[in-house]
Amino acid sequence: MTQTHWNDVGIDYDKVLGTDASNVALLSAAVELLPPTAKDVLDIGSGTGRLTSLVREALPLSTIVGIDPAPTMVRAAEEKFAADSGISFTGGAVEDLSQFPDNSFDVAITSFALHHLELDTYDTAAAEIFRVLRPGGRFINADQFCRVMGPAGSLDRALDVLDLLTAKARHYLLHASFERMLLQVDLLPRFMREDGEILTTPEYWTDALTRSGFRSAIIVPTPPEELMNRVIWADKP
Ligand SMILES: C[S@@+](CC[C@H](N)C(=O)[O-])C[C@H]1O[C@@H](n2cnc3c(N)ncnc32)[C@H](O)[C@@H]1O
Repeated sequence: MTQTHWNDVGIDYDKVLGTDASNVALLSAAVELLPPTAKDVLDIGSGTGRLTSLVREALPLSTIVGIDPAPTMVRAAEEKFAADSGISFTGGAVEDLSQFPDNSFDVAITSFALHHLELDTYDTAAAEIFRVLRPGGRFINADQFCRVMGPAGSLDRALDVLDLLTAKARHYLLHASFERMLLQVDLLPRFMREDGEILTTPEYWTDALTRSGFRSAIIVPTPPEELMNRVIWADKP
């Protein structure tokens, strides 16, 4: 299974992220795109279940499966939702959803998770998501993006990522919390080296989705737009 440094994240993730209105806005925008009739929902990179909680509020009668490659995250989420028999969690990564048959879900939703993918796995991930969705099913991806693609460490790309991430750190310090800023600064070397944290343009995702057979993919900016948080959604024909 994909290794992820998120298995060892040593902070109170829910508390720190809860201080960040831009993250709350992003997750809310994703949940607004849930079709009200959806019954089976896959939450990819479910982490501690912050998005899972919002999906449950929006779709009280649905069955929700969270998948995450980090065993510590799966355990934390299982504990949190132990009282809800309609929610379960399993280990696994988006690049290999073989534990789910074709046409299993009405929605595949994900937040702040798919920027962990290696750039050469986007087509595999998009094809897996397409496969497990039912015809008419919807993919909703809320994540952070950048403005420039290019070879790792090339000047234009490195400048874009550095400018974006330092702007984010300043924004978090001024508008979220000291701890949220520190999380961003701690992750900065990983983003710069493209080591487990790899920003892409929104179009890098929409192109992969279109290649996998999704109907036209839509990019929705969430505030503040300059931080490059976006929701991307697309329906399976
Ligand atoms: C920043 S957390 C976000 C969790 C949650 N969705 C939220 O918004 O709070 C990112 C999660 O993505 C997971 N992840 C990393 N690589 C992944 C992959 N290849 N497939 C699915 N999830 C992955 C990590 O283990 C981690 O729990």
